[in-house]
Amino acid sequence: MIAVGSDHGGLDLKNAVCALLITRGLAFSDMGTVDTNSVDYPDFGFRVASAVAGGGYTEGILICGTGIGMSIAANKVNGIRAALVHDPFTAQMAKQHNNANVLVMGGRVLTCEQGCELVEIWLDTLFEGGRHQSRLEKIQQIELDQK
Ligand code: RB5
Repeated sequence: MIAVGSDHGGLDLKNAVCALLITRGLAFSDMGTVDTNSVDYPDFGFRVASAVAGGGYTEGILICGTGIGMSIAANKVNGIRAALVHDPFTAQMAKQHNNANVLVMGGRVLTCEQGCELVEIWLDTLFEGGRHQSRLEKIQQIELDQK
């Protein structure tokens, strides 16, 4: 189950991503925003990130204008590895090396076609584990150290 969210700057790409997920037969929840009215990206970033961190969703997809604000907000939530990706290589690495559980994109950076391609790459790539797993564990330790 995938949690999907955007602000107004990511609305068009979010709608395209939702259509893609329907085409692929993947279950998802569209957590807004729903129209072009200006909203605050941290509200939607937190909504999606906390849904994933809470365990009810396996992965999340977040989109704002640049992707920067959403990635900053989502990465404040313990357990979230939100990766801002711009191209096929970073989309692949986000899963293969970082096991990103939230994919972040810029709706004013990418076309809908480009963004959907990045979602497909991220979904279809497997985490490599091994040395990358121990690096993720170090990130987890940083979270624990701050409690
Ligand atoms: C909204 O205008 C814009 O600031 C937002 O979508 C995002 O790009 C923030 O990082």
